[in-house]
Amino acid sequence: MTHRIGYLVGSLSKDSINRVLAKALVRLAPDELELTEIPIGDLPLFNRDDEMNPDPAVPRFKERVEASDGLLFISPEYNRSIPAPLKNAIDWGSRPWGKNSFARKPTGIIGASVGAIGTAVMQSSMRSVLSFLDAPQLNAPEAYISFKPEVYGEDGEVKDPGTEKFLRHYMEEYAAFVARVLSVTLPGHMGDSDPDTMH
Ligand code: FNR
Repeated sequence: MTHRIGYLVGSLSKDSINRVLAKALVRLAPDELELTEIPIGDLPLFNRDDEMNPDPAVPRFKERVEASDGLLFISPEYNRSIPAPLKNAIDWGSRPWGKNSFARKPTGIIGASVGAIGTAVMQSSMRSVLSFLDAPQLNAPEAYISFKPEVYGEDGEVKDPGTEKFLRHYMEEYAAFVARVLSVTLPGHMGDSDPDTMH
């Protein structure tokens, strides 16, 4: 069975190393995953005053998230946290209250950095956010990519066999996780994430 996976790239840079990583992951993904990018660069800055009458980019984004069987976040770490464009997209997708587009979607988080810890702190922040949004996450393997430019070609070919094996394995595990989650999730279920949990 084919699963439609929407992927979000957390960087808007035209030279993004995370976009290169995304291309590599698309190439290495098992056949049962159909990966399509969900763009985030056209979303306005989140303002809750606009929730009920948002820019057309917002419903377009939410529809794409909701139409996906699973979501993959491929993102840099900015100042030890989630890049603003990605957090902005997540905030839009989580609203208005009761219309959280991320609920019950199987998710994976992966990121590339020029630094040695390979986006680990960003991923930790993402896990908190996705937990609150009731989005199941692939726990293992973790994938903290310390980006080496010489390892990746323009179109996402991976020139180092060890890295290729690791990324292929990550995508196989993600595919198995998506299948597991969907096997126990009612199709089309739209859960609510109640922010008012402190009664
Ligand atoms: C960075 N970078 C960075 N790297 C890291 O490992 N941890 C961090 O906290 C940060 N913080 C940070 C903040 C800002 C504003 C920028 C622009 C960069 C460096 C980052 O890993 C590097 O620029 C990557 O190339 C960013 O990924 P993209 O945009 O190329 O996909």
